[in-house]
Amino acid sequence: MQPLANITPLKPAGGVEVRNVGQIFRTATQDVVALEDVSFDVKPGRFVVLVGPSGCGKSTLLMMLAGLRQQTSGTITVSGAPIREPDPNRVGVVFQEPSLFPWLTAEENVEFPLALRGVPKSDRRTRAQEAIELVGLGGFGKRHPHELSGGMKQRVSIARGLVQDPPVLLMDEPFAALDEQTRMTMGDELLRIWGATGKTVVFVTHSLTEAVYLADEVIVMSPRPGRIVDHLQVSLPRPRTYEMLSGDAFGSLRDRIWQHIRRSA
Ligand SMILES: Nc1ncnc2c1ncn2[C@@H]1O[C@H](COP(=O)(O)OP(=O)(O)OP(=O)(O)O)[C@@H](O)[C@H]1O
Ligand SMILES: [Mg+2]
Repeated sequence: MQPLANITPLKPAGGVEVRNVGQIFRTATQDVVALEDVSFDVKPGRFVVLVGPSGCGKSTLLMMLAGLRQQTSGTITVSGAPIREPDPNRVGVVFQEPSLFPWLTAEENVEFPLALRGVPKSDRRTRAQEAIELVGLGGFGKRHPHELSGGMKQRVSIARGLVQDPPVLLMDEPFAALDEQTRMTMGDELLRIWGATGKTVVFVTHSLTEAVYLADEVIVMSPRPGRIVDHLQVSLPRPRTYEMLSGDAFGSLRDRIWQHIRRSA
């Protein structure tokens, strides 16, 4: 038997279960049904991408998975327990806009969630530095956001989502503001980090190419009220390569998603 010290501890990644979830926004003038009867499972360690027309409830769904909003009906469990409030030990979130504090350095921004939880200074510095290395920003920790490119800021934001080592990472259009080249690079980078950490990822995008390139599974939603209209398995081999983008298997998956979106336009 191997001595324990030689075995890398694997934190069990969290599964996500969404059952018959609905969300109704009650405004002064009307009730807006944002989501209706949404059910799906994300198995631990899977990379699942959500796509669907604008306004179909993707961000609302992520907010609920993050415990930032409660569903009107149905149940959501993350790592086997209901999620009723933000729990950084279970779920990390990366939004479209990096939303970094401009007066803090990259490292301090990454440390921030740990500081909020009262993690001692030296421990949080070490963990922030590890997360910054992991996203490929080693050497840039002392820079302020205005000294970083858009892609670098997004990396800081991902490091902040990873720093508490949650088993589940939620990402809402994290690369939407980036140019195409940076976006491709960031996609590869994210897959590398995902491969190295074994996290469960739920990722929202409008790019069908990005969806198929990144995903193990793609969930397609209808226009509002958002429902699930398809759930595809992407069985392309990993690592994914640029050449795959022009292959038949890739094209037919992308077409299948596009047919759903086009029908709903
Ligand atoms: N706080 C709120 N109050 C009222 N309606 C809301 C609220 N938040 C979202 N909505 C409505 O719920 C629906 C879903 O919004 P959501 O932001 O989840 O869509 P989305 O799929 O993320 O869209 P996009 O692709 O444009 O980001 C929309 O019709 C939106 O107007
Ligand atoms: Mg959104």
